[in-house]
Amino acid sequence: MGKIIIAIDGHSSCGKSTMAKMLAKELGYLYLDSGAMYRAVTLYALRNNLIDKGKLIYDKLIEQLPKIKIGFNKNLKTGKSETYLNEENVEDEIRQLPVSNFVSSIATVAEVRKRMVKQQQLFGKDKGIVMDGRDISTIVFPDAELKIFMTALPEIRAQRRFDELKKKGSSVNFEEILKNVKDRDKQDTNRKISPLKIAPEAIILDNSYLTRQEQLTWVLEKANKIIKENEC
Ligand code: DC
Repeated sequence: MGKIIIAIDGHSSCGKSTMAKMLAKELGYLYLDSGAMYRAVTLYALRNNLIDKGKLIYDKLIEQLPKIKIGFNKNLKTGKSETYLNEENVEDEIRQLPVSNFVSSIATVAEVRKRMVKQQQLFGKDKGIVMDGRDISTIVFPDAELKIFMTALPEIRAQRRFDELKKKGSSVNFEEILKNVKDRDKQDTNRKISPLKIAPEAIILDNSYLTRQEQLTWVLEKANKIIKENEC
């Protein structure tokens, strides 16, 4: 009763998935990371030699799309949702650099997007879902009851990534990370197919100077209000 769809779009590295997961947990909703699906297709392409010398073999990928089955299962130990590619848990591998470096090209392939969007819409057919990505509030769920566009200053996003990578022991260069953040913004917003844009009814959440808890409180208040209205 009263269940809604919460669509979260926004710039890369601004904490969309962290926020979406916390929100789903609070509401008892399903969480779906749509970026993980594009990452899984990219992993399939890398493993099956569909990328040659940095170039995607487009026709072969399209031909093999029906063979790519993507799913999500809860890890019983951690309670977290993990990504599966043809029944194999690929959650860690899809986050690695080879996939990160090529995923934006895969995400521009119209046939890939068509399939992913269809599957994403199926996940949301009973509502009660929080989904994050780049086109969730514009293409996947244009009728979502709550649409959020998340962003933060590029320098702040870069600093967060810098701190995160440093903590993991990687040797990192702040200027390089900042450039990567800005490049990805440009790629996401300027691509021809399903570019990242702010849906007309979306509320903008700039978390440059907000803590996670402050953001969650802010969004939860909005979500609960809509859920209540939906119950009437
Ligand atoms: O959110 P992420 O970094 O895991 O996304 C990986 C890539 O997929 C990134 O290049 C943006 C793209 N993407 C997309 O085009 N549409 C979505 N709904 C989600 C992600």
